[in-house]
Amino acid sequence: MGQFEFKRGNTPYVNRGALTDEYTPNSLVGRDDELEEYHSALEPVIWGETPKNIFLYGKTGVGKTASTKYFLKQLEADSEQYDDLVLRTVFLNCDGLETSYRLCIALVNQMRSASQQISESGYSKSEAYAMLWEELESRAGTVLIVLDEVDHIKSGEDSILYQLSRAHANGNVSDTKIGIIGISNDLTFTDDLSPKVKSSLCERQLHFPTYDATELQDVLQQRADIAFKDDGLDEGVIPLCAAYGAKEAGDARKALDLLLEAGDVARENKRSLVTEDDVNRAQSRLKSKKVRRGIQGLHEHDHYILYALCVLAANGKMPARTRVIYPQYERICEAGDIDPHTSRWVSDHLDELKMLGLLSVTEKNLGRKGGKYRKWDLKTDISNILESIEETLKVVGVLRSIEPYIPDSLELRSN
Ligand SMILES: Nc1ncnc2c1ncn2[C@@H]1O[C@H](COP(=O)(O)OP(=O)(O)OP(=O)(O)O)[C@@H](O)[C@H]1O
Ligand SMILES: [Mg+2]
Repeated sequence: MGQFEFKRGNTPYVNRGALTDEYTPNSLVGRDDELEEYHSALEPVIWGETPKNIFLYGKTGVGKTASTKYFLKQLEADSEQYDDLVLRTVFLNCDGLETSYRLCIALVNQMRSASQQISESGYSKSEAYAMLWEELESRAGTVLIVLDEVDHIKSGEDSILYQLSRAHANGNVSDTKIGIIGISNDLTFTDDLSPKVKSSLCERQLHFPTYDATELQDVLQQRADIAFKDDGLDEGVIPLCAAYGAKEAGDARKALDLLLEAGDVARENKRSLVTEDDVNRAQSRLKSKKVRRGIQGLHEHDHYILYALCVLAANGKMPARTRVIYPQYERICEAGDIDPHTSRWVSDHLDELKMLGLLSVTEKNLGRKGGKYRKWDLKTDISNILESIEETLKVVGVLRSIEPYIPDSLELRSN
C-alpha cells in the first residue's frame, strides 16, 4: 500500500459546496430590520417607477452580496406577473475595474450576449459611453444596475457613476429608468467621491452591521442543514463556530469557512461526525494560514529578523533582548551576503512584528539600578514561520539548528 494513497472513507457531508462562497442561499435568515429597509427601497421597481439609487455599506461578510442577489432574483421572479413591467438586472463586481472606461465596457459586455462582446481597448471613451446608452435603451423599462465592491473604482475615476445616475436627465436615455445599487465594505469610500457623485449615488444609504453570535448560529444552521448529514454535527459545533465568528468581527463568511474546515478535519480522519475538537483544530489551522499570509507580505529584512528569531528559539535562547537578536540577524545577513540594517531599524521592526501578533514582549525593570529592558519571544510556531519564509531560507541557506523544524513540504537542503 502506498504511503499516500487516496481512498474515500466516512464523511459528514452530503453537499459540501453549500458551505462555500459560491453558494447563494435560497432564503436569508435574521437581519430582519435591514432587509425590511432594503425591500422597501426596491419597492418602486415593481411599480415600474425609478427607484432611488442605493448605497449599501457594511464590513466584510455581513451579507451585502447575498441579500442583494436574493432580492434581484425575487424581483425578477415577481416582475413576471405584470405585463407592463420590463425589468432587467445587471450585476457587476467592480474588482479589477478601476476606471470609468473599464467599468463602462464591462457593463456593455454584461448586457450583451457572448457573441457580441467587445474588447477592452480600441474605443474612445465617448464611443464606449454611446454603446452603453444604446444597450440600456435597447429594452425600454427599468434597469437595475448593481455595482458590487464599487470601492475598487479609483478616486477621480468615478464619472461613470455620475453619468449613469444622470443618464435620463442628460438625455442619454429616454425610455429607460435606471436604478443603481452601489455596495462597499470600505466605509470611507464615499468620502473620496466628488460631491455630485456622492449625492446621486447615495440617495438612500443602507448599513448592515456585523453579526452577533446568535445571528451567526442561524446563518450556520441554515447552511449546515444542506451541507451535512442528519447526524453529521455534534451539538456544540455550531455554537462554537458562531462564538469564534462573533469574536472575529461578526463575519458570516469566516464562520462558514470555519465550519467547512472543521468538516474537512473530520473527513480527513474518515469520520462522519464533526466534533467540537474538530472546530478547535480547524480554528488553529485557519489561524496558521493567516499567519503565513501575513508573513509573506512583509519586508525582506523582516524575514531575516524572523529567521534570526527562529534560530535563537531553536537554540533555546528565547525570550531574548534586542542586543542578542541583532547580532544573530547580522549573522543571517552575512550568510546571505546581504547588507544589514541598523540595530534601531531592527528594534522598530520587532515592534511591528509584535503588532502583527507574531511576537510577544515582556518588560523587565532593573530595579534600583534604574532603567528597563524588553525581552522578545516568538508567539508562533517555528515551523509555521519557516514555511512562510521559504525564499529567505533559499537565499541564506538552512542553518543546522533549525533543520528539525523545517516542514516536509519545503524542499530544502542544509548548509
Ligand atoms: N442573512 C444571511 N442569511 C444567510 N446567509 C448569509 C446571510 N448573511 C451572510 N450570509 C452568507 O455569508 C457569506 C458572506 O456573505 P456576503 O458574501 O453576502 O458578504 P458581503 O457583505 O458581501 O462581504 P464582502 O464585503 O466581503 O463582499 C455568504 O456565504 C452568504 O451567503
Ligand atoms: Mg460581497
